[in-house]
Amino acid sequence: MSVPNHVAIILDGNGRWAKAKGLPRTAGHVQGAKTLEQICEDAYHMGINYLTVYAFSTENWTRPDSEVAMLMELLRNYMKNSIKRAQKNNMCVRVIGDKSGLAEDLRTSIEKLEQATQYNTGLHFQIAINYGGRDEIRRAVVKLADKVAAGVLKPEEIDDKKIAAELDTAGLPDPDLLIRTSGEQRISNYLLWQASYAELYFTSVFWPDFDKNELAKAVEVYEKRDRRYGLVEEE
Ligand code: FPP
Repeated sequence: MSVPNHVAIILDGNGRWAKAKGLPRTAGHVQGAKTLEQICEDAYHMGINYLTVYAFSTENWTRPDSEVAMLMELLRNYMKNSIKRAQKNNMCVRVIGDKSGLAEDLRTSIEKLEQATQYNTGLHFQIAINYGGRDEIRRAVVKLADKVAAGVLKPEEIDDKKIAAELDTAGLPDPDLLIRTSGEQRISNYLLWQASYAELYFTSVFWPDFDKNELAKAVEVYEKRDRRYGLVEEE
């Protein structure tokens, strides 16, 4: 089997990485963001075309205020500082999740980055922010219900394709491989609809230590799996 077209990653273990080094948790997030920049380049060089990462979940708001503020600042800086690099690498960046729950200036920076990179044909990089799989499906159901109420859609016309078209990931292929770092073996509300047939790969490596070799290991395991698509249509 060949290199996965779409890899999704649950970036986990930043806090434990920092703790093990006697550093504040925030240092783990800073290093995690650096790791992510490098992995975007490595993934594309390995032949991966789509990468979708879980940066901030709908549940992450319950973290201490100072940590939430720090993560938002990191995301703000990323949106502002990565336009140039994204252009240089021909990377198309898109944010998934409920953007209405984000600060206005962050939403503006996201829009600028998305618009500036929308026609790039290199790596398609999706960042999940204020994202929850159940919340995404709920928002899609509301949109479909609105269409039914407006008389432009019949309930019996709702099929998998119509649902997928209302998700934040509309137009993207489903992930082939879902990686979670740091030893946890849960999906934690990530891409619940899209990852239905994804191969799962768990590693004990903390996210800040995840590198090209670790990604190559995950891809190698994926390539050895006997992948059955079930009812999924191959693109
Ligand atoms: C999980 O580690 C990680 C997060 C909640 C944040 C992930 C964010 C980044 C890697 C950086 C920001 C992203 C971009 C796009 C700039 P954890 O804090 O839950 O670690 P722990 O389980 O060891 O406590």
